[in-house]
Amino acid sequence: MENKKRKISIIGSTGSIGRQALEVIEKLEDKFEIIALAGGNNVELLKKQAEKFKPEYICSNTPSPHAREGWSEGVTILHGPEGLEQICSNKENDIILVACSGKIGLRPTLTAIKNGIDIALANKETLVMAGDIVMNEAKKYGVNIIPVDSEHCAIHQCIKDIKQVDKLIITASGGPFLHKSIEDMKNATVEQALAHPRWNMGKKITVDSATLMNKGLEIIEAHHLFGFNYDDIDVVIHPQSIVHSAIEYVDGSVIAQLGLPSMHIPIQYAITYPKRFEGIKSKSFNFADIARLDFEKPDYDKFPTVKLAYKMGRLGGTATVCMNAANEEAVFAFLDGKIKLYNIYEITKRMCDEHDVIQNPTIDEIFTVDELIRRKTKECIKKFS
Ligand SMILES: NC(=O)c1ccc[n+]([C@@H]2O[C@H](COP(=O)([O-])OP(=O)(O)OC[C@H]3O[C@@H](n4cnc5c(N)ncnc54)[C@H](OP(=O)(O)O)[C@@H]3O)[C@@H](O)[C@H]2O)c1
Repeated sequence: MENKKRKISIIGSTGSIGRQALEVIEKLEDKFEIIALAGGNNVELLKKQAEKFKPEYICSNTPSPHAREGWSEGVTILHGPEGLEQICSNKENDIILVACSGKIGLRPTLTAIKNGIDIALANKETLVMAGDIVMNEAKKYGVNIIPVDSEHCAIHQCIKDIKQVDKLIITASGGPFLHKSIEDMKNATVEQALAHPRWNMGKKITVDSATLMNKGLEIIEAHHLFGFNYDDIDVVIHPQSIVHSAIEYVDGSVIAQLGLPSMHIPIQYAITYPKRFEGIKSKSFNFADIARLDFEKPDYDKFPTVKLAYKMGRLGGTATVCMNAANEEAVFAFLDGKIKLYNIYEITKRMCDEHDVIQNPTIDEIFTVDELIRRKTKECIKKFS
């Protein structure tokens, strides 16, 4: 990292990743200058963040008059998707952390890439919906996409010579139902699904971790980020979440990345890459404290979402757009108490089975399919409610 301050904007600064990113930046205040902070509806938190970090721009998703008042002096207020576009086309930025949830992350990411701005990417939907387009554009504009997800961040750290890597091994904690029966899972409450044993994350990703769909999404992200065939991406359950992922070289050597389960570490890695700083580190890693590391095969009867993700990933085109949209709507319906946890998979699978895949879709086609599947999924949810 150059000696001058790195100029950064955060899309989704009020979320779990966004807030932790600001904690990292606070520790490294002499290394960063914040250009813009963008959130969705949590305007009160955005105001506090603006007061503390003094960005040039803020952007919220709420047009209410209340949202236009009470900001610190000098800050320019932007709004909605147009505001995100403005932030991401500002070439003052050295890097943009895309940490919003959902499909809203895709267009701003593409805009930033076209403006030659490096991306620290947390938002999964960007690659799951349009991985081919995003990675091709990044190559064309010479932009780095540095993954924030702990698994992809681990692989990014392990890979020295990608041509000599045979296989990616993605670890999964297994979530709160790892050692529970399928029956327990079928009757799980929202509270139980949100009680992740290792990670404190936003609600959507926490439910995805309970069904293991999160791992399915990560397989698709890994395929796009590192250019590996699905046959060469394995998943292994590792309940302690200490080994964040690994790679196997052609000669059988396995390189893994280890660390305490804290998102601060991959966030800091992504936004300071290629440099490293002490920053947020609170204590040294001690193998003796960890004592044991367990690994087991995923139970695909209990967690069929992973198999579905492999299948849709291999189909390519809009198959993963469909799976992502259906799953997201079903997760929201579960969080609203309309369906059971297990229905999420059943509904998602039904939508996937019925989907006519479009190969090599344009961005507009991707959003059209996304809208269509969401409408169909909402109809389907009514039958399960
Ligand atoms: N949390 C993790 O540990 C983790 C790990 C790996 C990857 N990820 C991925 O990172 C992304 C964010 O996850 P999260 O757990 O941080 O989610 P989260 O806590 O739910 O936060 C989501 C963020 O997105 C913002 N947002 C929502 N709609 C928006 C819109 N229309 N315009 C602008 N901002 C909007 C939210 O704003 P408001 O709150 O103000 O409405 C909030 O700042 C997801 O794609 C997730 O899969 C998360």
